[in-house]
Amino acid sequence: MPIISVRRAEKSDASSIAAIYSESIAARDSTMDLDPFTHDDALNLLCDLGQREAIFVAETDHQVLGWGNVKTYSTRPGYRVACETSVYVFRSHTGQGIGSSIQTSLIEHAKSQGFRHIVTKIWAENELSIAFHRQFGFSLVGIQNEIGEVDGKKKDIAIMQCL
Ligand SMILES: CC(C)(COP(=O)(O)OP(=O)(O)OC[C@H]1O[C@@H](n2cnc3c(N)ncnc32)[C@H](O)[C@@H]1OP(=O)(O)O)[C@@H](O)C(=O)NCCC(=O)NCCS
Repeated sequence: MPIISVRRAEKSDASSIAAIYSESIAARDSTMDLDPFTHDDALNLLCDLGQREAIFVAETDHQVLGWGNVKTYSTRPGYRVACETSVYVFRSHTGQGIGSSIQTSLIEHAKSQGFRHIVTKIWAENELSIAFHRQFGFSLVGIQNEIGEVDGKKKDIAIMQCL
């Protein structure tokens, strides 16, 4: 197994982040974003990070293969202990521990920033991602039925939490 290293994302990672995310957008199984993510979209994501927010990338042999982010759940002060996370890995490299390495860094970062409740929203049909998050202590809060519509199909979203 190649060595996976996780680090904070830099502006020069924008193309990789865009490519990884665009693959998941096209797969229509994990995000409500529907248009391809561009280099500039990724750059904006990096430039607009709040003080307690972060994007991490995982690389092997200097090739970025996955990324994830911690973002604040709400700007309302009463929610200051809550954040939201997402993880995306190139499909050709899933099942090799990359997602787990990123998720570990996201949880460490969340703790270090005083977040004690992590929310993640997952397509209810995405059983792999639900199993992945359960391994990190996330539990299912509930299903938001038909909250989305993608390509004319109704979509349910699983809300998971990790305290
Ligand atoms: C979900 C995702 C981030 C997991 O990343 P990953 O690098 O594949 O995960 P890991 O290799 O670290 O595996 C961790 C666990 O995930 C699950 N998993 C990963 N690949 C799997 C596969 N092919 N089949 C079944 N379970 C799998 C297992 O529970 C695995 O634990 P195990 O190794 O003890 O069996 C990745 O599959 C992905 O990017 N999927 C598409 C986008 C997505 O759904 N993102 C989540 C939206 S928040």
